[in-house]
Amino acid sequence: MSGLHVGIIMDGNGRWAVAKGMPRSVGHRAGARALRRVVEAAPDAAVTTLTVYAFSTDNWQRPADEVGLLLRLFRAYLRSERAACLRNGVRVSVIGRRDRLPLLLRREIGLTERQTAGGTVLHLRVAIDYSSRDAILHAAAHCDGMVDRARFEELLVPAAAHRAPPVDLLIRTGGEQRLSDFLLWESAYAELLFSPMMWPDFGANELRTAVEAFRRRDRRFGAIPPAAMAQAGAA
Ligand code: FPP
Repeated sequence: MSGLHVGIIMDGNGRWAVAKGMPRSVGHRAGARALRRVVEAAPDAAVTTLTVYAFSTDNWQRPADEVGLLLRLFRAYLRSERAACLRNGVRVSVIGRRDRLPLLLRREIGLTERQTAGGTVLHLRVAIDYSSRDAILHAAAHCDGMVDRARFEELLVPAAAHRAPPVDLLIRTGGEQRLSDFLLWESAYAELLFSPMMWPDFGANELRTAVEAFRRRDRRFGAIPPAAMAQAGAA
């Protein structure tokens, strides 16, 4: 069984906290714990690449306090998880723009990426200041004449170490059913799974159930099933 690339839009932290009468920041902290659980569970669910949407380019529009909290949380997460990632063979990459991130976070990202570069069990890609449309625009601007899809995909993620195969399964928690500028090119044939569960409640069982549901999907990639193909040939 070949490993899966799962993408996750981790939505619902704010609503989870507000429903419990707590500030949104509590939801984001609980969201970080949910991410830890899912990263730990990924290898057993046959997931070899996990790309999570931590902060979209449009999230800069949120109140400065919340943005500041999220950026500090990302740094704390990388710092506290680095040893576990090393131990468990998790290679961490951060995709998205770096130039607008605080220096301390950029340093933490660089350190984590360098130290975990040898991990072969799971490739964890964290999307921060990420916009799929901006990545596509950037790639298009760097096309030198006609390029094929393979070359375009290289331009989409400039650093080779951060690239990944196409998304197999795209999960969005939090009840909304939209892609919100996440991995648009990469999800061309992804199976989509929308869960009403708020992200802080997501964990190992939910990941396993999602992958089982994915296994029951009939992925045809625009073709027709082999049996129908044989029939068509015989006709
Ligand atoms: C969406 O929930 C979530 C985010 C914008 C941030 C995602 C961040 C985390 C899950 C924290 C952990 C991540 C890392 C990398 C440590 P929302 O705030 O939009 O929720 P709402 O729709 O209920 O308001």
